Amino acid sequence: VAVKTFGWGIMGTGDIARRFAADLAFVPGAAIHAVLSRSVEKAEAFRAETGAKKAYHDVEAFLSDPLIKAVYIATPNSLHLAQSLRALRNRKPVLVEKPLAPSSPEAEVIEREALRQKSFAMEAMWTRFLPAVQAAKAHIEAGAIGDIRKISADLSYFRDYDPESRFFSRALGGGAALDLGVYPVSLAMFFLGEPDQVSGRWFSAKSGVDMRTEINLHYPSAEAELSCGFDRDGANHFLIEGTTGAIRLDAPFLKARRLTRYSLSARNSPLLGPLPEGDGLAGKLLSRLPSSLTRFLGRQVEHYPFPGNGLQFQAIAVMDALKAGETQSPIMPLEASVAVLRAVAIVLSRSPMPVPPG
Ligand SMILES: NC(=O)c1ccc[n+]([C@@H]2O[C@H](COP(=O)([O-])OP(=O)(O)OC[C@H]3O[C@@H](n4cnc5c(N)ncnc54)[C@H](OP(=O)(O)O)[C@@H]3O)[C@@H](O)[C@H]2O)c1
Repeated sequence: VAVKTFGWGIMGTGDIARRFAADLAFVPGAAIHAVLSRSVEKAEAFRAETGAKKAYHDVEAFLSDPLIKAVYIATPNSLHLAQSLRALRNRKPVLVEKPLAPSSPEAEVIEREALRQKSFAMEAMWTRFLPAVQAAKAHIEAGAIGDIRKISADLSYFRDYDPESRFFSRALGGGAALDLGVYPVSLAMFFLGEPDQVSGRWFSAKSGVDMRTEINLHYPSAEAELSCGFDRDGANHFLIEGTTGAIRLDAPFLKARRLTRYSLSARNSPLLGPLPEGDGLAGKLLSRLPSSLTRFLGRQVEHYPFPGNGLQFQAIAVMDALKAGETQSPIMPLEASVAVLRAVAIVLSRSPMPVPPG
């Protein structure tokens, strides 16, 4: 039986566009139908490299191609709003790179347009769709750690200061919170929902965007202490502590392939518990012990391997949703993307802290 291929159209030819194109190899029935670039040469090079059928540099021609079943927007943050609206108005479903837009009001415009067009739109918050993250969610919903009391996560990767790059450029929608912070904030809200209150502080880079941001989400009986930065490499794991145990999405949690489960006593043990800076030597030694023994001691590792970069799971979710006639993903609804940006804005609307010495 011939399976109909689902043709993706990719806007942008940068780093993430390439990784997404590669991961489509792991999506049954998917193909890259077309790419859009500002330059004819780049579009053609990307087409040749990825095996896409068409290379466009004119956005109207790209969006009029009937064989594009969904558009993946992989351009700098500052372009997400305009390009999403354009695609939606051409009746194309959209998967928009994170963050959905540089601000929550702009993200709300996308949400309203998708509702008006009754067309599918989703932020490409791929981490929510990873098997390890889905497993953590299932464990928690099954009561494996009791009620969540605390989430702690840092996502930091050192970057050399370059005011022209999309990381530090204000015009391109730069800053650590929009590049990295949306991951821990989105994931914390995936487990805890929208907070009652948000607090935090940020430190400025020379260009005026945030170089390091700390965001705390406050719930009636839980707290999420989250941070991100370009100023150093962080431990980059995501720890969820409950009343009867804990689960850690192991580093780097944004592409988690592994999680560790802790009983309450293992969580509180200096040897078996999760260390803030990573597991170091203790973790290495523990990983050599038979799993039956560590499980007996209250610490259990679960592996969720996948090929490629992990961007395939969100693509599968988009295709499944479209097949089911849905206009949003229940795992990453637009309202939740807006809520993340609202939390980021509460912190970034404050004056920055003086940059710490050194
Ligand atoms: N999911 C993830 O893990 C992940 C990782 C990295 C980035 N992202 C997100 O993906 C988006 C793109 O990031 P990236 O790292 O792929 O960036 P990038 O390497 O700079 O690529 C962005 C692409 O957008 C196109 N573009 C159109 N107008 C542009 C403009 N005015 N300035 C610069 N580029 C423009 C360019 O393609 P043409 O020159 O061909 O037009 C460029 O190659 C961002 O929103 C980012 O937050 C997600």
